[in-house]
Formats: sequence, structure tokens, C-alpha cells
Amino acid sequence: MLLIAFEGIDGSGKGTQAKLLARWIREKGYDVFLTKEPTDGAIGKLLRESLRTSCFDARTEALLFAADRSEHLREIMKKLHEGKVVITERYLYSSLAYQSVSGLEMSWLREINAFAPEADLVVYLDVEPEVALERISSRNSLRASVREKEHFERREFLEKVREVYLALAKDSENFEVVDASGTINEVQASVRRRVGRRLAAFEEEKKHSEQRALEDFT
Ligand SMILES: Nc1ncnc2c1ncn2[C@@H]1O[C@H](COP(=O)(O)OP(=O)(O)OP(=O)(O)O)[C@@H](O)[C@H]1O
Ligand SMILES: [Mg+2]
Repeated sequence: MLLIAFEGIDGSGKGTQAKLLARWIREKGYDVFLTKEPTDGAIGKLLRESLRTSCFDARTEALLFAADRSEHLREIMKKLHEGKVVITERYLYSSLAYQSVSGLEMSWLREINAFAPEADLVVYLDVEPEVALERISSRNSLRASVREKEHFERREFLEKVREVYLALAKDSENFEVVDASGTINEVQASVRRRVGRRLAAFEEEKKHSEQRALEDFT
């Protein structure tokens, strides 16, 4: 079973890199299920609405993210059991990073997400908020419509989110920190190098479990 999560601040390139990685892994002959959080399900839709209009407070939002993830995990586990490689854009670690900066206790966030297994591999795309925000603004000409003050506040917020991500990465072995400031191709090359190593281990493990199943059978 291989669950890969892409993490990083807004505009760090998660969607772009996840898609390119999925293509590469498929070319190697694996079945890949590419997915994201918030999901397109009922709770995910509610969450996107809340992110847009701030209709829920931070605690309610954190609970909704956890609820959305709980639904998401049923699908993820099913795909993993079918032998697929699952790649998700955002996962548990987004909740820990973003919601803790929104003022919620890390221990409580861990608690309400305790049902969620750790990803086998977290690809954390590290980039400065200014660079990431620039990417988003060139995507939808947001910069022109967003006032300087909002841009500044978002940058400050994302700087803190980045710090939490880096602290999480330091504390866990399943994180790969990838410098995401280069071109799309440069970043992808770096992602593939890191994932390639894990894929080799995954292949070994799969071979062993198939062998065990065969031995049990005979
Ligand atoms: N390395 C890069 N250099 C320049 N532009 C990039 C790079 N990676 C992605 N982009 C562009 O930046 C924008 C944001 O990328 P993307 O949507 O992949 O980020 P994301 O992390 O998924 O963002 P979000 O958090 O909003 O979902 C897109 O327009 C994408 O084409
Ligand atoms: Mg995205």
C-alpha cells in the first residue's frame, strides 16, 4: 500500500506536481488514484463555501476538515486495498499546519484526526509565500483585485503555515522536503527522485506479500 500526500502552502504547485507524478507512476505500470482535499463531496463543498465566506469559525472548520477526511479515507482505503497507488493533494498535515496557525491547539487537531493513518510519504513543496502568491495571482489575475493589505496578511499567515510544515517535516521520517522554487520541470525531477526511492521499497514489499500469499496457498 502506498499513500502519497502532497503538501505545501497555497500556490506551491501541489496540483501541478501531483498530476505529473501520477503520469510518471502510471507509465511504470501502476494503477494510480489521484485525489484531493477538500473533496468534491457534500462536506468538501461546504468547506470551500466556508473558506470563501468565513461562515464557520476556526473550530467548526477544523471539525469539518476532519469529517471530510473521514469520508475521503473510505475511498482512499478502498483504492489502496485494490493495490492502487494513491496520491492526494493535501491531507492530514494541511489540517495540522493551517488550523494551528488559525489558533487551534496542535494536540486537539491531532486528536480529532486520530482516525487518519499517516501517509507513507509526504512530499512537502517548500517555497516562499511571496513566490507562491505570485504564482496564484498570475493564474487568475487575483493581484489586481486583491488589496495590498489582504495580500500582506495572506503572506504573513502563509509564512507561519510554512514554519509549522517545516517543523512537522523535521519531526517525521515520512516527509520529503522538496525545494519548489524552481521551474515546474525542475521541481518534478526532484519529486521523482524522492518518490522513486520509496517506489522501489514498495515494489519489494509487494513482491514479498505476493510470495507469502502464494506460499499460504500451496
Ligand atoms: N514551479 C512553478 N513555477 C511557476 N509556476 C508554477 C510552478 N508550479 C506551479 N505553477 C503555477 O502556479 C499556479 C499554482 O499551482 P498549483 O495550482 O499547482 O498550486 P497548488 O499548490 O495546487 O495551489 P492551491 O493551494 O491553490 O491548490 C498554477 O497556475 C501553476 O501553473
Ligand atoms: Mg491545488
